[in-house]
Amino acid sequence: MRQIKIMQEEPYKELGDLYGLFFEDINHAADGGLYAELIQNRSFEFCEIDRKDYHALTAWEKSEGIVWEVRDISPLNDENTHYLHVEARPGGFVRNLGYNSGIYVEAGKKYDFSVYARLADDSGSKEVQISVMTDAGEIHARESFSICGGQWRKYQIVLEASKTTWEGRLVLAFLEEGTYELDMVSLFPQDTFHGRPGGLRRDIAEALEQMHPRFLRFPGGCLVHDGALDDKARNSMYRWKRTIGKVEERPAWRNNWGYNQTLGLGYYEYFCFCEDIGAKPLPVLPGGFNPHKGEGVSLSEIEPWVQDALDLIEFANGGTDTKWGALRKELGHERPFHLEYIGIGNEEIGEGFFERYPYFHRAIREKYPEIKIINTAGPFATGEGYDAGWASARENDSDLVDEHYYSSPEWFLANMHHYEDYDDKGPKIFLGEYASWGNTYYNALVEAAYMTHLERSKAVALACYAPMLCNVDYVNWKPDMLLFDNHRILKTPNYYVQKLFMCHQGSQAVRFEMRGFEEAVSLVEDTDITGQITVEGNQVEGLIWDVRIQEFGRGQKTEAGDIAVLEDGIQKSGRERNAEAGDIAIKEDGQIHLLADVQSGHYKLSFRFRRTKGRKGLKICFGRKDKDNTLLWEFGGWDNWDCNITSICNGRGSTISHRIFHVEEKEYALELEVDGRHIVTKVNGEVYNDTIQGVPQLEDLYATASTEASGKKTYLKAVNLTGEEKEVEILLEGKERNSAAVSVLRDRALTAVNTFEEPDCVAPVEEVWPVHGNRLVYTFAPHSVTVFSFE
Ligand code: AHR
Repeated sequence: MRQIKIMQEEPYKELGDLYGLFFEDINHAADGGLYAELIQNRSFEFCEIDRKDYHALTAWEKSEGIVWEVRDISPLNDENTHYLHVEARPGGFVRNLGYNSGIYVEAGKKYDFSVYARLADDSGSKEVQISVMTDAGEIHARESFSICGGQWRKYQIVLEASKTTWEGRLVLAFLEEGTYELDMVSLFPQDTFHGRPGGLRRDIAEALEQMHPRFLRFPGGCLVHDGALDDKARNSMYRWKRTIGKVEERPAWRNNWGYNQTLGLGYYEYFCFCEDIGAKPLPVLPGGFNPHKGEGVSLSEIEPWVQDALDLIEFANGGTDTKWGALRKELGHERPFHLEYIGIGNEEIGEGFFERYPYFHRAIREKYPEIKIINTAGPFATGEGYDAGWASARENDSDLVDEHYYSSPEWFLANMHHYEDYDDKGPKIFLGEYASWGNTYYNALVEAAYMTHLERSKAVALACYAPMLCNVDYVNWKPDMLLFDNHRILKTPNYYVQKLFMCHQGSQAVRFEMRGFEEAVSLVEDTDITGQITVEGNQVEGLIWDVRIQEFGRGQKTEAGDIAVLEDGIQKSGRERNAEAGDIAIKEDGQIHLLADVQSGHYKLSFRFRRTKGRKGLKICFGRKDKDNTLLWEFGGWDNWDCNITSICNGRGSTISHRIFHVEEKEYALELEVDGRHIVTKVNGEVYNDTIQGVPQLEDLYATASTEASGKKTYLKAVNLTGEEKEVEILLEGKERNSAAVSVLRDRALTAVNTFEEPDCVAPVEEVWPVHGNRLVYTFAPHSVTVFSFE
């Protein structure tokens, strides 16, 4: 029988803050999401910089009898420069559409309405009626109040909903003829998370709290660095100092994911949220460099950016006798927030960032040696950005390196032991963003298997799935962990896996032995990369010529003239010649030119290319079975920044080699050589990519064991990715245990997903098993995640 023996008294790794969460305002995660504001465009600040089709009246409508315009003549304050000017006949109204299908109110619950308003003609006092009602005219809540005088004044009214709807509109009806001006029209449920006024949506926040995350990384993601260097710019990078204080005095900013961010959920709220859910805050600040544009603040002007980082630490931890600590107290939080980590940069690539990072690092280290500083290693699990991040981290003595990757399940299966030989003495790994492409049960299982290895590797200190939240009607990125609309949340299988691992993390990993298990099996029959070679333009026009394809026997040296293959896209063979194909004109995207169908395991492609139009380069596929199963060499990919190799499996890509490269309008000699799973590309004779495509493998069982420092509990997490039951004898050495609480994900098709209609299709079941003599014989279900909590 297979056996797992857990040595409860033999810890080998402190687990510390291993499992946490990553919040980014992507997919309307904040506005229209976690931030519970029900009004969209509450301060009439939306504009086309946020999104092409946005304007100051986005999400607002008016009735007959209303003449309106958005003005900026005498605004509420310098940040909130637009307001609504309304000339109303009696009974005329304006209304806000909210997010998704509308405004959600629940019968019996109370809502805080507020508005800044004045009478433009200063004509005494006029009555306004506020209602939450549907398009069909059904009233769900109604109150009225009077606007008095010509000065901005805040009006606050509590509405109580008599009936439930998620298709409500907030209607402001002007009962008297007059000229009204409105700003910051706001409606919040009183029933927010931890009852904080103007706070967070309770259902979403509670689902996160229930995970017991050890840390929360925020506020992004690309949101942090994708923007202008000027913090007064509409499309500024995320600068924390501009996100605190009175909400009506926070600037309106473009969110780089194509919408507006009110910043109502700002740094102070993030810190409070961390405290509320018991997670350590892990803020990420921009490093004064925008990798999307390759533009950075000049080194002579970097001081304020560095000061931002120092001031943030003071804001979080400083005494109330310090400038920023005093501000924290003034905002309502006298006690410190106990900041321990700070990230500089988010997956930046390019020298521009690494030139700037040391300025931040030195200043923080000197003033706050106790703070752990996190460097960043690009958007892939490998390649030039990755190596540069690690080199910088080692050189500067960063405490952690933030790694990000989104890959196919097959990549994860091929890379389970990714961190096995990482040095655990240098900077530690913060896996700040990762996910396998998809929200199926299978994705969640594979992620769980990967997490057993994250937990076991001494080099990995922190890890969080990404992205965390997604409003299903405003999707920027898939997959995500927790989905929602305006009135429901949906926990994905991936959420449940994360939660299981977080809730059963333990304080230290302990040694365990697995006996009688089978060797890992390969999931691919043919380990050679064979199939079509094709080429297409990537938003460019240009010319390809001098195409040569040579095939060799395995292990044979590459020599020109061995076997020639191609003429006009038709494969031919013959020892003595390198036939030249006709020139290939690259024109429309999607026009794929088939160069050959290669069946040998060792081959070489070479050609020349010149771009004549457009900004990017070429997509060269090889080992192509179909468009969803291929290897892809992107020459000038992602905004013309990359020379990458991506392995695409069932339509899901994993970048397995990355180099920075910008294609210019000149001639290039391109070369690709594939030998077995070894892939090498050359540009003008220089090696650009040199990588090995890993073979996905299936282990008999994936497992990890840990204990609580208190000694109260021992955990065993095990993932069975095979389709067979596995009977295993579990032995516990050391402390006596009498029972095991077991949480299991099982009995679901690999393709199963959770939906609003069937939200708990994939959800853990709980069992309790007796343990006799520190021994338990347990049968792991096929395709299952099982977590034991021995007591
Ligand atoms: O998580 C979504 C995005 O992926 C993040 O903004 C970015 O850091 C990464 O590229």
